[in-house]
Amino acid sequence: MENGFPKDFLWGGALAACQAEGAYNVDGKSLTIPDVMRFNPKLDRTITKQLKITQESIDAAKAELDDTYYPKRRGIDFYHTYKQDIALMAEMGFKVFRYSVAWARVFPGGDDAEPNELALRFYDDVIDTIISHGMVPLITISHFDMPIVLIEKFGGWYNRKLVDLYLKYCDVLFNRYKGKVQYWVTFNEINMSAKAGPKTLGILDTGQENYEEMIFQGLHHQFVAAARATELAHAIDPENKIGCMVAYFTTYAHTCKPEDALEMQNEDRMRNMFYLDVQAGGHYPYYANTYFKRRGITITMAADDLAIIAAHTADYVGMSYYMSMIASSDAENLELTSGNVTNVLKNPYLEGSEWGWQIDPVGLRYTLNHVFDRYQKPIFILENSIGAIDTLNEDGTVHDPYRIAYLESHIREMKRAVEDGVDVIGYTMWGPIDIVSSGTSEMSKRYGFIYVDQDDYGAGTKRRYRKDSFYWYKDLIATNGEKL
Ligand code: BG6
Repeated sequence: MENGFPKDFLWGGALAACQAEGAYNVDGKSLTIPDVMRFNPKLDRTITKQLKITQESIDAAKAELDDTYYPKRRGIDFYHTYKQDIALMAEMGFKVFRYSVAWARVFPGGDDAEPNELALRFYDDVIDTIISHGMVPLITISHFDMPIVLIEKFGGWYNRKLVDLYLKYCDVLFNRYKGKVQYWVTFNEINMSAKAGPKTLGILDTGQENYEEMIFQGLHHQFVAAARATELAHAIDPENKIGCMVAYFTTYAHTCKPEDALEMQNEDRMRNMFYLDVQAGGHYPYYANTYFKRRGITITMAADDLAIIAAHTADYVGMSYYMSMIASSDAENLELTSGNVTNVLKNPYLEGSEWGWQIDPVGLRYTLNHVFDRYQKPIFILENSIGAIDTLNEDGTVHDPYRIAYLESHIREMKRAVEDGVDVIGYTMWGPIDIVSSGTSEMSKRYGFIYVDQDDYGAGTKRRYRKDSFYWYKDLIATNGEKL
């Protein structure tokens, strides 16, 4: 057992193209779901309200030339500022930088014969910049940025054709970045599909009777695509390490009532474990098959799908961890609070963030032990942090003790999990530079160590400022978390 973090622990941060790049229609890029997600400034911060994405809302967005209410179209203009922004990550001493490639840049037509060279040149330079600073690039192949063209031409992941299109895209990336990129994530938070089908699977809800079945069918296609991408990556470069990823919704029983424990088990299985059992364990678990049977869900599979899933499991388990929740057999009588993508039952022992997400550092240690126990595969924490309102002072400082407190307590628990014997290989804090929120499209929901002077409507100088947490994280990396 190690004392504290191993010497080669991968400290860093993570961003996604669709929340950072902006330049949504530049150099041939086609539209994605985030580009058509309208910002609702009247959002109640403590209750999650999903803005429904429909063909009508997509068409209305396409016709809207004023981008004021479509913040992801501008992001933080990382498309043009990546060199300076990545240099700031390096200044903090990052060992790894997680970033995503936008599928809609590389194949703007969805099924183009050739990839878009302009897009690839941009990603060449992003990756070379990361490497030039001595950081390891970790690339997410698909991060919540479903190309609209794949919805309109093929109906999204419900159509098996997407498996081949995705593999073609992976083939381009694996070959182009061979020897440069070795850490990959196939799909960001694949388990979000149950609550955010349009966003991750491109399957629009038009009131179909079998919508849930469609979601699981689309998901099956993603499972097959990820397994085949893992096979392909290993064939192109045996050094490649391919991760699966879930957003871990850690769930406790509300009381010691046995029925609450059963609810907890069900929640944990169908929200979290099912996805990992398939992608890290290599099989559809019995409880999921039972769930499908009870719900009348039939998943159409090709003859060798299950064999492919079994043969090409992920090399490491990736997870994001933000919050935890509770499960109860008497849920109707309990209070709700907002959570990542969905509302959850409130835990009386935990404080919430300004957006109501329940802050639970001990839950991280619990989760790491829970997941490692089951798969014994290395775990990479690919996202963790807190969204908060920051104030930029006149002297250019931003005092963010709440962010430091959140991160410090979580990293301390991660350290304890490492000391428990869990093989945690890295930690990429979410949103090291402020970006547009995925869920609400607010700029004012900030995660960064670096403040970006831009408001929800795109106004501001766009200048970057180091927050107090910037210096704190720099010191934490330099001392490998020894002070915790
Ligand atoms: C994760 C996503 O679910 O949560 C990120 O992978 C997202 O893209 C993050 O930004 C935080 O969520 P939000 O809605 O606060 O941006």
